[in-house]
Amino acid sequence: MRAVDIIVNKRDGHELSTQEIQFFVDGYTRGEIPDYQAAAWAMAVLLKGMTARETTDLTLAMANSGEILDLSQVVPIAVDKHSTGGVGDKTTLVVEPAVAACGLPVGKMSGRGLGFSGGTLDKIESIPGYRVDLTKEEFLDQLGRVGIVLTGQSGDLAPADGKFYALRDVTGTVQSIPLIASSVMSKKIAAGAQAIVLDVKVGLGAFMTNLTEARQLAELMVAIGRSSGRRVVALLSDMNQPLGSAVGNALELKEAIDTLHGGGPADFRDHCIEAGGHLLVIGEKARDLATGKAMIVKALTDGSAWESFRRLVTAQNGDVSFIDDPSKLAHASIVEEVNAPADGYVMEIHARRVGEAAIMLGAGRAKKGDAIDPAVGILVHAKVGDSLKRGQKLFTIHANNPALVEPVRIALLQATTWSMVPVQPLPLFYGSIE
Ligand code: URA
Repeated sequence: MRAVDIIVNKRDGHELSTQEIQFFVDGYTRGEIPDYQAAAWAMAVLLKGMTARETTDLTLAMANSGEILDLSQVVPIAVDKHSTGGVGDKTTLVVEPAVAACGLPVGKMSGRGLGFSGGTLDKIESIPGYRVDLTKEEFLDQLGRVGIVLTGQSGDLAPADGKFYALRDVTGTVQSIPLIASSVMSKKIAAGAQAIVLDVKVGLGAFMTNLTEARQLAELMVAIGRSSGRRVVALLSDMNQPLGSAVGNALELKEAIDTLHGGGPADFRDHCIEAGGHLLVIGEKARDLATGKAMIVKALTDGSAWESFRRLVTAQNGDVSFIDDPSKLAHASIVEEVNAPADGYVMEIHARRVGEAAIMLGAGRAKKGDAIDPAVGILVHAKVGDSLKRGQKLFTIHANNPALVEPVRIALLQATTWSMVPVQPLPLFYGSIE
């Protein structure tokens, strides 16, 4: 077999065989197929698509490119969740401890932010000392002992995805449904949880900007999970406007802490309750969604979710004094308000543009490996549909570089559109696929 023939086959719109896909993934992972051929192949897949069978083969080939964990060695059932990425999405920081507080073990390997989309690892690393580099043995030991783990993706799991993802990021080939589905599901299968909730974001601040494509992606991932013997539920959730209020690492951590204490912005809290409820159902701790959601509400109000978060931070060497007193977390030297320029109803707060404004401040990376500033970011004080008076607080900029405040202020005002007539609020979810 030759890599070039496989590229040509896909370029000409043919269905690749299981052997061809396996050959390509193995060759690329071992470094025998060079980046330029893998890039040409990824572009051919993006343009010509893949059948469900090809996508499943690709997923399994990538999952099998490294180690596959078996969490049933340490707990009878463990759950995992995955978000396809968005702005202000600090859901894992709340849902994981809440679910663990309900007696369901949860082991998660998270990623870093890239582009406008934030990453859970960057957020939790705002806690001094917190380790995100657990070994496989430490992961399994902590899951069995503490019932909750939140660490970085181990290099041994789905290494093919690590290579392909870095390549896709710089070759304009991220936005492909079969490539996203296989990337997400290869990692989830390798990470070993038996039941998985996928949070598929749709909207202006998501990879999938329309509901039809998001639904297609969700259905494909659920089918792949099922064919690998995993229980999977996919939620289709809104990412037109940022989730919650905070965008930026320590700011998002503080918002998660507020929510774990029973407060937090209503949309973010409701989102966590829904996602957590689904995890409890597929993890067989709740008989139906209403029961699961009620259990999460209880965990958020009776202090047990918070205690579970403290256990997580302690287990991973984080300094709990920083979460007990979040005023100790990194904070920016400049805090500046942006007010509504006129009376009106908020029609749009463009999630991607707000995410990009946060990156401009230093909250994210323009490319892999860039340093981030945990302190900086943006608080968004309004939601689509809100009625504001001129001069009312719309955003708060947290910056460390005074030269950035004005450009970010302009970017945020440009990210907001207004209407003179009432506007419907956006839904939190557009449905679920099981
Ligand atoms: N998240 C992933 O893990 N992979 C993708 O391809 C896109 C989003």
